Amino acid sequence: MIKPLRKAVLPVAGLGTRFLPATKAMAKEMLPVVDKPLIQYAVEEARAAGIEQFCFVTGRGKTAIVEHFDIAFELEAVLRERGKMAELRALRDSQLPPGAVVTVRQQEPLGLGHAIWCARAFVGDDPFAILLPDDLVLSETPCTLQLANAYYQTGGCVVAVTEVPHAQTNRYGILDIGADDGKLVEVRGLVEKPKPEDAPSDLSIIGRYVLRPEVMTYLSRMERGAGNEVQLTDAMAKLIGQVPFHGLRYEGKRFDCGDKIGFLEAQIAFALKRADMGPAVRTFLQGYCKELFGAQG
Ligand code: UTP
Repeated sequence: MIKPLRKAVLPVAGLGTRFLPATKAMAKEMLPVVDKPLIQYAVEEARAAGIEQFCFVTGRGKTAIVEHFDIAFELEAVLRERGKMAELRALRDSQLPPGAVVTVRQQEPLGLGHAIWCARAFVGDDPFAILLPDDLVLSETPCTLQLANAYYQTGGCVVAVTEVPHAQTNRYGILDIGADDGKLVEVRGLVEKPKPEDAPSDLSIIGRYVLRPEVMTYLSRMERGAGNEVQLTDAMAKLIGQVPFHGLRYEGKRFDCGDKIGFLEAQIAFALKRADMGPAVRTFLQGYCKELFGAQG
């Protein structure tokens, strides 16, 4: 029997060094794309996939993340008094039901694998999704829902994958692939950040996973991998052959919001999609294009 997918782990204990000084006293995951923090996009995406229980793996200076999903009584009272109903609704969207969030602490950022291992008691014997909030996916069907559907189809681990330029394989977790129906790809092996000449394919894992709990057994060995960090990719690789393991070419566009250029692109893409601001953004972009590229712009 395939167990239902109800749990998600969101690791948010990283230092966010690429965004300093913005992230000196503020969590990277609280940076807004348009008007919503990255972490809220991730939580909404998970809820759309049927996730009911959330575990935030936090570190120092990350309390605002948990606060964000709380009820803000005073603020709500003031908004109600002033008749600001749209703003009140926007606040409600960021609330989670009582008991839906737990936090665990990763005292030292020893790597993504170590962060996930910190959630082992929360995961127990259940399958779980992982969402890295700095990866934002703009899609018709929420990315985690696409993964959940593939999980219910296969009963095994499923990771979201996308093609990357061959020269950039050393930045990502890369798949060694078997059978491929164009969408679902059988995973034969996984390598973290291989040099282009050693990369078994150009298919890379993005920050969305559905994993079986057995991965914790391998994470608990605390083996160090690339960058001397405990790598999730290495622990997942050990599951291949034991449980079904697939990559899913998801529908949608992913933005790496942990990177300044990716973050900027996400702002524009998400703003263009908004009915209330898309036209204004298009107009100012046209102005910049004209300035940069002349009349053809
Ligand atoms: P990144 O590789 O983007 O690292 O982590 P980072 O520290 O957040 O950012 P930079 O590279 O210094 O700018 C990917 C995800 O894994 C989490 C991060 O919070 C982020 O969501 N993470 C990473 C942890 O929770 N713990 C770790 O030890 C490492």
